[in-house]
Amino acid sequence: MWKHCSFEDNIMNHKTAIGSKCGAFSACPEVLDLMSRIKGGGREGGREGGREGNPPEADKASTANDRQLLETAEGLGCPRVRLRMASTRIREAKESDCGDIMRMIRELAEFEKLSHQVKISEEALRADGFGENPFFHCLVAEIIPAPGEPQGSLVVGYGLYYFIYSTWTGRNIYLEDIYVMPKYRGQGIGTKIIKKVAEVALRKGCSQFRLAVLNWNKKAVNLYKFLGAQDLTESEGWLSFRFEGEAMRELAGC
Ligand SMILES: CC(C)(COP(=O)(O)OP(=O)(O)OC[C@H]1O[C@@H](n2cnc3c(N)ncnc32)[C@H](O)[C@@H]1OP(=O)(O)O)[C@@H](O)C(=O)NCCC(=O)NCCS
Repeated sequence: MWKHCSFEDNIMNHKTAIGSKCGAFSACPEVLDLMSRIKGGGREGGREGGREGNPPEADKASTANDRQLLETAEGLGCPRVRLRMASTRIREAKESDCGDIMRMIRELAEFEKLSHQVKISEEALRADGFGENPFFHCLVAEIIPAPGEPQGSLVVGYGLYYFIYSTWTGRNIYLEDIYVMPKYRGQGIGTKIIKKVAEVALRKGCSQFRLAVLNWNKKAVNLYKFLGAQDLTESEGWLSFRFEGEAMRELAGC
């Protein structure tokens, strides 16, 4: 069963205000472990603290703390902190990302146990997302290797969205898919994608962004709730309907 969720503008403002640049420090367990060994308790007040419901000040404090700890590490002659640090960036997808996006669409459908519903092709993505009037927009999460590392950048997640219109609130965004490859989960990449969608929404004058999630997908449900989304199925009782195939052709008299 799909649950409907919505991020409203006050939450979007609040969440995008939290600095994300240094999130890469928090996201890298090796760096955090090294930092906590250097200074002791580097993880306190960090992402784990934030997830317990601490106020945004705690996130800001942890960001400042991360910076200070990195400086301390450098001061102590630990250049490997910087050398080993790959970073993640969220950027707009290019047409050449369609192969990766298609692969991850299939992985997400498999995760959702609905692979049989995937009918789309890479060509359709290219045509529908990168033509003159795109039907959708897409963000990708890319791992940028640390300086000196031989491998190139790697696309490990995506968020695909489009603009919708509410007769009650006007311009909105619908986040159709969000996905991070298993190996890269739990490091803040999904959160970064969601924050970027909130940024785009606010920039485009949208007051909400919506998404649907299967009711058994507790990790995703908890993440959306933690980030401030309302569960509309719970609070307002919305159900999802879909016309397709024969039902749609019959309606259209074809
Ligand atoms: C939901 C999803 C996009 C979140 O991305 P992410 O990069 O893992 O998100 P974050 O790291 O920002 O936060 C995830 C939180 O959920 C938890 N989590 C989610 N999936 C996890 C996993 N496989 N392993 C460990 N922790 C996980 C973590 O505990 C983390 O909390 P923490 O910050 O306290 O550690 C990603 O888990 C995913 O692609 N899941 C499969 C597909 C899916 O459910 N898509 C959503 C469909 S609506």
